[in-house]
Amino acid sequence: MYKWIMAVLFFGGCVFGVGYLVLSPSDKPEEGAETVIKKPAVLVAESDPANKNVYQKSTCLMCHGTDLKGTMGPSLLGVGDKHDKDAIMKIIKEGVGTMGAQYDANIAQGLTDADMNALAEWLSKQKAQ
Ligand code: HEC
Repeated sequence: MYKWIMAVLFFGGCVFGVGYLVLSPSDKPEEGAETVIKKPAVLVAESDPANKNVYQKSTCLMCHGTDLKGTMGPSLLGVGDKHDKDAIMKIIKEGVGTMGAQYDANIAQGLTDADMNALAEWLSKQKAQ
């Protein structure tokens, strides 16, 4: 008897769940609501030497991806809207949240202080267009 009640409850739950997904109005735009189109951030100044000669040789791309779209770290597309060059330099030197400091590891990999400055500058140009 108990099994039957559980089966009925489970089945009912499934039907309700599917029905909700099908009938849910959440993704239908409201009548008359203004549509705000926010353009996604894209890679800015891709041909900048700071990308080819510094970013692509840095530790950053392990976590932020070769195209800044992010892998285990967040996407850095549009990061310039959030942080200026100095703030990005500070993040590189001191880390942020769960990301550790990156400066020394990149210098050890053969990049220079000027490279890291150029990298911070290029990242600060990453703004949503
Ligand atoms: C080991 C993985 C890893 C590496 C290597 C790494 N990052 Fe990060 N980065 C992260 C993670 C994870 C976060 C998010 C940290 C948080 O908010 O807790 C982050 C956040 C950031 C942020 C802030 C993003 C925001 O939206 O506020 C910037 C800027 C950044 N990283 C730049 C860099 C740069 C430049 C390098 C290379 C010099 C680098 N990261 C290398 C993992 C990494």
